[in-house]
Amino acid sequence: MKFVFGKPVDEPFDREGEIGELRSMIVRSQPTALIGVRRIGKTSVILKTLKPMNTPKIYLSVEQYVEGRSFDLNSFIAYFSSLVVTEALRTLEPTRKLPLLLREKGHEAVSTLRDLLAYLKVTLNINPISVELYFENRSKLKDALKEALELPQLLAEKTGKDFTVVLDEFQYLRLAEQNYPGLLHLLRDTWQFQKDVVYTISGSSVGTLNHMIASREQPFYGFFYPIHVQSFPRETSMKFLREGFEEEGVKYEEEALQEAVDRLDGIPAWLNLFGLRALRYKNLERHAAREILNKLVEDPIVVSLVLKEYQKLGKNAKAVLKHLAKTGGSIRGIVLSRSSTTEGLRTLLQEGYIQRFERGKYTVADPIILEVLKHE
Ligand SMILES: Nc1ncnc2c1ncn2[C@@H]1O[C@H](COP(=O)(O)OP(=O)(O)O)[C@@H](O)[C@H]1O
Ligand SMILES: [Mg+2]
Repeated sequence: MKFVFGKPVDEPFDREGEIGELRSMIVRSQPTALIGVRRIGKTSVILKTLKPMNTPKIYLSVEQYVEGRSFDLNSFIAYFSSLVVTEALRTLEPTRKLPLLLREKGHEAVSTLRDLLAYLKVTLNINPISVELYFENRSKLKDALKEALELPQLLAEKTGKDFTVVLDEFQYLRLAEQNYPGLLHLLRDTWQFQKDVVYTISGSSVGTLNHMIASREQPFYGFFYPIHVQSFPRETSMKFLREGFEEEGVKYEEEALQEAVDRLDGIPAWLNLFGLRALRYKNLERHAAREILNKLVEDPIVVSLVLKEYQKLGKNAKAVLKHLAKTGGSIRGIVLSRSSTTEGLRTLLQEGYIQRFERGKYTVADPIILEVLKHE
């Protein structure tokens, strides 16, 4: 095992339980929601689960289609459809080279889609005329939404293979409801009748996702089986660092690892970053570990990552989060109206940034976010 920071990891450490559970849910066609804060390892779990599967599967992150506070539904549909079609073809003819799928959004994706659909007509010998029509006019793409949503089931039937669809950071689809009211209802109504397609969603907005799947008035009430991805328990974090350093050939003092685990709270991404920073030591002593940790919260990569996410929050949520960071979790003394404070707190709870500890007391879930904002 090597330390990796930033991208999902191929071999997630100590996630056999989550992977096994997700796999078994997919096998039994049970819709599943993977829920956990940012950088905890959800995407890694998903990709590792999908990898060995031979049946058609697609993965896409809904977050890519967020534009400010709105959502580019047209591009989402175009990309979703092209992925589904490409994947169906790939499973049918794994040896045939397919036109390289454009990962970009917008126009190019659509023209590639055309190519794909033309190819589909020849190869699958199905009747794709209606499919082709959907994409005639890009600005009308969202009118084709219903048809696009039917594509996985259509192709599952045509190919005789069950389809798996994974939508990561699913909560962002709510933004699309502004321009497309009833979108989530439409999704539920469509999905629940698709007998050959299994859906997995995932997301970091812990409060929002829990609400979406567990509140009676929500379209997806009772539809998904939840899997909660948690931070590593202390002993797992220790084991993770030990094994990492052993593999990398770094000797260490036990206290150095303890120092890191105390400060990083079992969030896998930060443990990896710590591991990477420690590689230049032959023998990692406690004081060196402490220095790495102190520098971590000033590291430009870390600071810009944290601030970029912070900037996405609304005005009230930002003010509340900064206040909580500075006071160590107490809401007292905030210079904000009561209603703004409540609104800010609600957003932060929904987004998974904070947890309620007791009345007026909150904990910031991510210790690095806490430290960075404290010093801002
Ligand atoms: N099980 C794991 N083992 C090792 N590193 C992990 C694990 N899960 C997450 N990471 C670390 O966290 C980072 C983010 O992982 P990712 O799967 O993208 O999280 P999420 O999707 O929850 O935001 C990875 O780049 C890696 O550094
Ligand atoms: Mg992710």
